[in-house]
Amino acid sequence: MRVALGVAGGIAAYKAAELLRRLQDRGLEVQVVMTEAAREFVTPLTFASLSGNKVITGMFAEGGGEPNLASAIEHIAVAQNIEALVIAPATANLLAKLAAGLADDFLTTLCLATKAPIILAPAMNVNMWEHPATRLNVETLRQRGVQILEPDEGYLACGMSGAGRLASVEAIAQAMFVALGLQDDLQGETVLVTAGRTEEPLDPCRFLSNRSSGKMGYALAEAARRRSARVILISGRASLEPPASVAIERVRSGEEMARAVEKHREEATVFLMAAAVADFRPAQVESAKLKRQAGAPVLKLEPTTDILGAVARRRKPGQLVVGFAAETENVLQNAAAKLRAKRLDLVVANDVTQEGAGFEVDTNIVTLLFPGGRRVALEKMSKREVAHRILDAVVELRSECAAEQARPAAWSSKQLRKIPGTRK
Ligand code: PMT
Repeated sequence: MRVALGVAGGIAAYKAAELLRRLQDRGLEVQVVMTEAAREFVTPLTFASLSGNKVITGMFAEGGGEPNLASAIEHIAVAQNIEALVIAPATANLLAKLAAGLADDFLTTLCLATKAPIILAPAMNVNMWEHPATRLNVETLRQRGVQILEPDEGYLACGMSGAGRLASVEAIAQAMFVALGLQDDLQGETVLVTAGRTEEPLDPCRFLSNRSSGKMGYALAEAARRRSARVILISGRASLEPPASVAIERVRSGEEMARAVEKHREEATVFLMAAAVADFRPAQVESAKLKRQAGAPVLKLEPTTDILGAVARRRKPGQLVVGFAAETENVLQNAAAKLRAKRLDLVVANDVTQEGAGFEVDTNIVTLLFPGGRRVALEKMSKREVAHRILDAVVELRSECAAEQARPAAWSSKQLRKIPGTRK
């Protein structure tokens, strides 16, 4: 996730380096933008070294000579690529320019050009902060939806005391995390996600596979990471960029996926099994390419390992197991049967015949089925949103689990009776 950190020219500019580190700790990729005045307080080299990115200090490329249009365009692309912009410290001068809609340097231009949420953390002399002009500018910006973090009170660098100290780095970072939808409710969890399709070889050139793109699983991995979980993504074939700060293991066949899941089974606290794993594979893998001239082969298939079933069967107390059910008919009945047979904590029923649902598309339509018989049908939404709704359910299950002190190893007969079609 890419964000921008603007630094204006104030004595608190050095604190932006600490803020940069805090944002990076949450896996954010940070583009630093400095005003001309900020360079008087901290050098761009400091931020470049910490962020690993070039620092933008002006509209045009550094080094003098003719203004370079390509560099200006490249710079302005930042506005489209960021998910949030924070300016710390924001000076009285900067607030005035933003309130007036000026765009006379890169940072002010970025503020006008971006549609991402903007957070300003002002820092200045107390009289400047309390001046009617600054009050009006702050009010104007707030009315436009800019979030302004009130400065703290205390001893100021100018020798006076009062409001004007930069808000704490933690408060600024938290405001960014909220703006980005980064919650902490999965902190301490290790979430193992399976995603994408498996490929079951037939001969050196061919395999059996399916249409899964990996989008649903990758969305889950990213959402879990955003909510502070440690994430292990076990990915079958998928042509997607893995989310930042996620440990990824790439596999091809169902057996490789089973081995990778087994490797991490003990350390995972939540399993989200979104991968489309082949149920059958060719019983024999030919060592040479099957030839057309030899006539159409009759394929003998054999079952693959049921990874989800194995995880659910062998789970330790406290491990939550979420399965998917990709169905084309009797969707809810089939999904409920999976929930029951594998004793899952949650099953995500996915009718893959619906438009805007299932394989390849960016949206999904799913129903969440809980062991107690509760069903939550979600309307069509982006896979990212679906992922968050599934994680909301995980958080809910976890708190129920905590309330019970420890998760029962097997379902109670009372729970089982609540599910239609179950008798125990
Ligand atoms: O990747 P996308 O293009 O975004 O598509 C998303 C999706 C349709 C793949 C996803 O939403 C989905 O429904 N994933 C489950 C696909 C699947 O294989 O469903 P199933 O009903 O066949 O399997 C049931 C469950 O058992 C699944 O959690 C599956 O991961 C798991 N399984 C299946 C077979 C097997 N050998 N081992 C398993 O663990």
